[in-house]
Amino acid sequence: MTEPSESVGLALETHGLRRNFGELAAVDGVDLSVPRGTLYGFLGPNGAGKSTTIKCLTGLLRPSGGTMRILGIDPENNPLAVKRRVGVVPEDLALFDRLTGAETLTFVGKVHGLDKATLRSRSKELLDLMDLTAASDNLVSDYSHGMRKKIALAAALLPGPHLLFLDEPFEGIDAVASRQIKDLLHAFVGRGGTVFLTSHILEIVERLCSHVGVIARGKLVAQGSLQSLRQASHDGKNLEEIFLDLVGAGEDRIPQMEWLSG
Ligand SMILES: Nc1ncnc2c1ncn2[C@@H]1O[C@H](COP(=O)(O)OP(=O)(O)O)[C@@H](O)[C@H]1O
Ligand SMILES: [Mg+2]
Repeated sequence: MTEPSESVGLALETHGLRRNFGELAAVDGVDLSVPRGTLYGFLGPNGAGKSTTIKCLTGLLRPSGGTMRILGIDPENNPLAVKRRVGVVPEDLALFDRLTGAETLTFVGKVHGLDKATLRSRSKELLDLMDLTAASDNLVSDYSHGMRKKIALAAALLPGPHLLFLDEPFEGIDAVASRQIKDLLHAFVGRGGTVFLTSHILEIVERLCSHVGVIARGKLVAQGSLQSLRQASHDGKNLEEIFLDLVGAGEDRIPQMEWLSG
């Protein structure tokens, strides 16, 4: 058990988190430990249970078992206190297609009770940073995939959360949008925020995150600082080899495909 004194520095912790879909244990007893002020990458292959975990953490799915504390609060006892302090960009982005980019931010700001002046200045700053100012009066349904991800991130940041949950924020976006999102996340963490993001791409987590958890078939198979994971590396393996070992795909499978050589 983690002592309360140890938990003070944690933005997020779970014990034995589970979520079943019928017979399938999509999340199978996961103990997460995410220090405050870190960029934490939750890494795993497709179908490993990343989205199911993040949905449980953000109240979109009810867990089948286990406990969690988010910013020191039990979301079951006090869901509103948690919702006020976290920002979420879910898998499907949850945007209102009939709003423009600017209206999206105004709507979110009003729901969170921001005063007019704060809402206006934060919206302007976020739209500028995300390079969305010129498109701010267009409907988000007309936005490209990358623009939709950026406006969803801006909306999540607008109320000034302490903790951000992002499900595959870099999936299917170009290098420019990717850089803009990375810069914003670094600035957020630099000001004491915590980011919990999922990715199935090792290179993204390796380049961006300070801490990592690896999930495979619903189970957490590694967790800690990226540095500690590297140092624990067996036989001088690189991170890709360690990752593939951890998720059970490391066995030698050299493609034959003689037909490719013509
Ligand atoms: N609503 C659902 N009903 C049934 N099975 C689901 C549902 N959502 C996810 N799953 C299953 O749970 C497993 C984990 O899915 P998911 O959390 O989306 O993985 P990831 O995000 O890591 O790709 C997969 O086998 C998936 O098919
Ligand atoms: Mg997913």
